[in-house]
Amino acid sequence: MLVTGGAGFIGSNFLLRMAPRYPKVLFVNLDSLTYAGNLMNLAPVEKAENYFFVHGDISDRNIVRNLFREYAFSTIVHFAAESHVDRSVQSPLSFVETNVLGTATLLEEARAAWNPDEFETGRYRFHHVSTDEVYGSLGPEGLFSETTPYDPRSPYSASKASADHFARAWGQTYGLPVVVSNCSNNYGPRQFPEKLVPLVIVRAMKENEIPIYGKGENIRDWLFVADHCEALETILLSGADGETYGVGGETCRTNLELVHFVLDRVDRALNRPEGASRALVSLVKDRPGHDYRYAMDTSKVRRELGWRPRHDLLQGIDATIAWYLENEEWLKAVLDESWRRWYNEQYVART
Ligand SMILES: NC(=O)c1ccc[n+]([C@@H]2O[C@H](COP(=O)([O-])OP(=O)(O)OC[C@H]3O[C@@H](n4cnc5c(N)ncnc54)[C@H](O)[C@@H]3O)[C@@H](O)[C@H]2O)c1
Repeated sequence: MLVTGGAGFIGSNFLLRMAPRYPKVLFVNLDSLTYAGNLMNLAPVEKAENYFFVHGDISDRNIVRNLFREYAFSTIVHFAAESHVDRSVQSPLSFVETNVLGTATLLEEARAAWNPDEFETGRYRFHHVSTDEVYGSLGPEGLFSETTPYDPRSPYSASKASADHFARAWGQTYGLPVVVSNCSNNYGPRQFPEKLVPLVIVRAMKENEIPIYGKGENIRDWLFVADHCEALETILLSGADGETYGVGGETCRTNLELVHFVLDRVDRALNRPEGASRALVSLVKDRPGHDYRYAMDTSKVRRELGWRPRHDLLQGIDATIAWYLENEEWLKAVLDESWRRWYNEQYVART
């Protein structure tokens, strides 16, 4: 199995789940190690016989082609992406390069490597991991579903939407066995602390100010990362080629509600007076094109594949806070990039 972007947040959680569960599957992790990826995330599987890391860019055709030749992948789970909306507003073209060109490169190299006579036998699967942000912004009512028309509004969501279209086009045009999953906002261990939940936890730990866009009224649907990884495993095992699956936590909160909830749980974990950390919140000028509401209808994946989230917000947030409190070394190492030295000392120097 080729896993792209496995050193990032969701990819690493996926590999840590899957490698021990499937010892006969070789997991090859292709990651270019941008600021968002680090190999400390994968320390528990680093020495596993069925895990192998390759440093490289998904848009590099030669690397991808050589990997297909060397490992004869039958499955691709494609996480690699530029994933932060704020960064996409600042520098959109890197999103086009990785999310659009990178995805098309993987699709094309899979098509070149795989035998079309076996496209319908269940031998191969290209799973493209995407987001509910491709559907645009909801008003006060309604849910996104697999048939909602695309309406991306940020460079990030436009690049993911484009990648989804390419994935489906390779399915329609060439018969490539493609599956797309569109998931709502994830949170959990190993998320780079620019994203809302870890940002709030880390700033609250340090008693730093916590900036929130606008009035904090934007609504998101939150899913614990372990539940997303379980959904991906379920879709890989039981999902049908050519299908799209909407995945979400059905746990919608305004940003301010979520931030207050996280802060109150941090206060509890750190034995601070109840509500003390709420004073750290400061409302700042809104981001351009900030979508109002996302909410995913997950009835298809529940009904057809029997998946449902196992963690409610309280369980997920408490587990996430506990992880960040126990992993200050990780936090420092990803922020100052000293994880690279740590990795070399731990692994490279000894081999
Ligand atoms: N985080 C969420 O809430 C969420 C929700 C739904 C869908 N998704 C999607 O899930 C996927 C993973 O998201 P994440 O939050 O783990 O992202 P992340 O930013 O934490 O990790 C992305 C990983 O991809 C790697 N990468 C980036 N560009 C690359 C390139 N050109 N070649 C190879 N590797 C490259 C990075 O080094 C990093 O390890 C993305 O496709 C994202 O769009 C994320």
